[in-house]
Amino acid sequence: MGLYQDRILPHLVNMAMRNRDLLPYRERVISAAEGRVLEIGIGSGLNLPFYPPQAREVLGLDLSPRLLAMSRHAANQSSAPVTFIEASAEAIPLDDHSIDTVVTTWTLCTIPAALQALGEMRRVLRPSGHLLFVEHGLSPDANVRKWQDWLTPAWKRIGGGCHLNRPIRKLIEDASFGITELETGYIKGPNPMTYLYQGRAKPV
Ligand SMILES: C[S@@+](CC[C@H](N)C(=O)[O-])C[C@H]1O[C@@H](n2cnc3c(N)ncnc32)[C@H](O)[C@@H]1O
Repeated sequence: MGLYQDRILPHLVNMAMRNRDLLPYRERVISAAEGRVLEIGIGSGLNLPFYPPQAREVLGLDLSPRLLAMSRHAANQSSAPVTFIEASAEAIPLDDHSIDTVVTTWTLCTIPAALQALGEMRRVLRPSGHLLFVEHGLSPDANVRKWQDWLTPAWKRIGGGCHLNRPIRKLIEDASFGITELETGYIKGPNPMTYLYQGRAKPV
């Protein structure tokens, strides 16, 4: 890993993800977590304060040792015990059907093999479990999509692999999840970066 990826990018990710406009989304998504929870791409642990009492245990998985270290510092803000796992979302080192809730927040944009990772999330979820997500991705507006496609190659290079144009709904459904709740729309900021998908899905 280069100096930028290893040392600078984790701090930029931490700063960018502290955007206050994202807080209501974190609060809403995380408040529905229950049981044994797996958070994919936990980053610097910004969701940890929002886990409700019905989340019995949180497993925070991330590829980045530096972001995991920041997350460890935030662990005391969680009401549930937190365990950290340094691993890739494309190969989750957990047993089949061992998780009640999988959480992803602004992470599917960055995972290189997002469909494979969603397949792994489905594998570890119990049949009665659910996936909770809030992600940015492909806009329904042709003019915005054009910018998303045009900007993504350069954006990926500075943004740690972040794609602006991932079709989040399609990816989740292609991984054999059924979406049971979905809200979409732009938040404050440039349209190519701010079209959000927030919802819940279950294995089908
Ligand atoms: C934009 S950050 C979001 C962090 C956090 N979810 C939040 O809401 O603040 C994306 C996170 O995904 C992690 N990530 C990217 N690719 C990954 C992979 N293949 N496996 C696990 N984590 C990954 C990054 O290290 C980073 O922490």
